[in-house]
Amino acid sequence: MSDEIDPQGVEHARELLSEAGTVLVLTGAGISADSGLATFRGADGLWRNYRAQELATPEAFARDPRLVWEWYGMRREAAASCEPNAAHLALARFAIERDGITIVTQNVDGLHTRAAEMLAVEQPPAGEGRVVRADENKAARLPLELHGCLFRVRCTQCEARYGHREPIDASAVNTLPTCRSCSSMLRPDIVWFGEPLGQAIEIAFSVAQEADLCLVVGTSAVVQPAASIATVVRQAGGSIVEVNPEPTPLTSLAAVSLRGGAADVVPSLVG
Ligand code: OAD
Repeated sequence: MSDEIDPQGVEHARELLSEAGTVLVLTGAGISADSGLATFRGADGLWRNYRAQELATPEAFARDPRLVWEWYGMRREAAASCEPNAAHLALARFAIERDGITIVTQNVDGLHTRAAEMLAVEQPPAGEGRVVRADENKAARLPLELHGCLFRVRCTQCEARYGHREPIDASAVNTLPTCRSCSSMLRPDIVWFGEPLGQAIEIAFSVAQEADLCLVVGTSAVVQPAASIATVVRQAGGSIVEVNPEPTPLTSLAAVSLRGGAADVVPSLVG
């Protein structure tokens, strides 16, 4: 762990976490920054280099599906070429080993799921060439993905949804991926600006009402309703522990706010 991170703050956060019966972990793009993925609002952030209105709205897709798919194809390639970092892995282990842990993410990069899957595959002892699936419970403790996932698609006509990891050919409209049920055009299964969040947000708010602690990692906490999840925990009597190199609107509400990168700090809290 780096020297600048406040050791007393870490100790206090560990105590709060060990006392908490139920913990809601809320993550944002900052947790994946240590895997090499750009955040949205940082110095080289996605929303600084691209205009959200031209790419992440239903109107943008209706106007130019090729351009929108090209952008999501690039983001898929970037996410697929990254690995879950120490923070994703520590949180996945935390959720597997302790009851009462719910991971809620605003990220669409699939890295929490990959971390959970990596841990759910028990490595064989040396010499045995066999990989065994660990108990199903482990694979089931997957994150709630509030904003969807880059590696899922949704049909624009029949609303079929399924996993899709194949490369996107966005060279022309007629090379874009089509639905395996009805052959209509597919779209990324991402919640775009102006669209309602699905059932995941309702589940997240009901978990928040009951949570003793909200561990907030790597989010600027400016996008609603996700940012309110932590304030609901606080209003219902729980506490907030924040991990972020920068202060955010949640900092003043937090019992502990640790200034550092997720991969440095999170393993020392939940390990
Ligand atoms: P942002 O880009 O708004 O914020 C990223 C946060 O991560 C900032 O507060 C950074 O200080 C922090 N950060 C940077 N490096 C970090 C590190 N190594 N460890 C921990 N934290 C670090 O991203 P989000 O808060 O996730 O929505 O943005 C929320 C939503 O806004 C996204 O889900 C996306 C976007 O518009 C949609 O696309 C619907």
